[in-house]
Amino acid sequence: MSKGLNKRDIKSALGETKKKIIFKKKTGSTNTDLKNLAFKDKALNKVVIALKQTQGRGRLGRSFYSPENNGIYLSYFLKPSLNNEDIVLITSASAVAVCKALEKNITISPKIKWVNDIFYEGRKLCGILVEAVRDKDNGLSGVVIGIGLNCIRGNVPDELNSIIGYLSDFCDGFNVNQIAADIISELNDIENLIKDNGLCSEYKKRSLVIGKNIKVLGDAPYRAYAEDVDERCGLVVKSESGEIRTLTTGEITIRIDE
Ligand code: BTN
Repeated sequence: MSKGLNKRDIKSALGETKKKIIFKKKTGSTNTDLKNLAFKDKALNKVVIALKQTQGRGRLGRSFYSPENNGIYLSYFLKPSLNNEDIVLITSASAVAVCKALEKNITISPKIKWVNDIFYEGRKLCGILVEAVRDKDNGLSGVVIGIGLNCIRGNVPDELNSIIGYLSDFCDGFNVNQIAADIISELNDIENLIKDNGLCSEYKKRSLVIGKNIKVLGDAPYRAYAEDVDERCGLVVKSESGEIRTLTTGEITIRIDE
């Protein structure tokens, strides 16, 4: 990291914006912080960024390793003006947004492992956790988009060492504050990406999975071939028995067979 992550440089890279950045040296989870603000109706236009998380959360109840100064841990609040059926696309659109921000800043082109993990050379660089915030009548009052991007390799526990990757493993000279600002700018644009129907093609061209043999994990795991990503960002797979299925739920995970 040429210069450490800091609020002043993120703001200056972001330029004029309505977004208010809440910058924390340490927190439990930036997603939890922003959800708590949302429950008090105070999350609009807020982005929470931390240098370290002690209880970083991932999808499917997993934890997200978030040590100090090694990554960008960022949560962005969106009050969507999308049709109900398009809300689920925020997950895929967030992955495209992060890829676009990275492409502006580094020479490598990380790819999206369905649904929204970002990988390069078999290593996970970035995880994304999108959480709905509901009001007391169970209506959707907003969405918290949590991004955990691994930037600079530090000490990594043995069990994660061969799984996670850092931008610094593959490139140097990048500016983390510019990357954070570009992620925020791209997130500012995701509703347009979804509404303009550009999402599917932007997602597909960054897919790591199309054309690969995979294992669909879950209660009844099976092997399949990933044929395509459809216009709703569902993963179209062909099972070994030739059956075509479209995976749509974020509760399903896949593993790419090498
Ligand atoms: C995953 O890999 O399953 C998703 C990881 C998401 C991590 C980010 S870091 C910022 C935000 N705060 C959290 O607690 N989680 C997300």
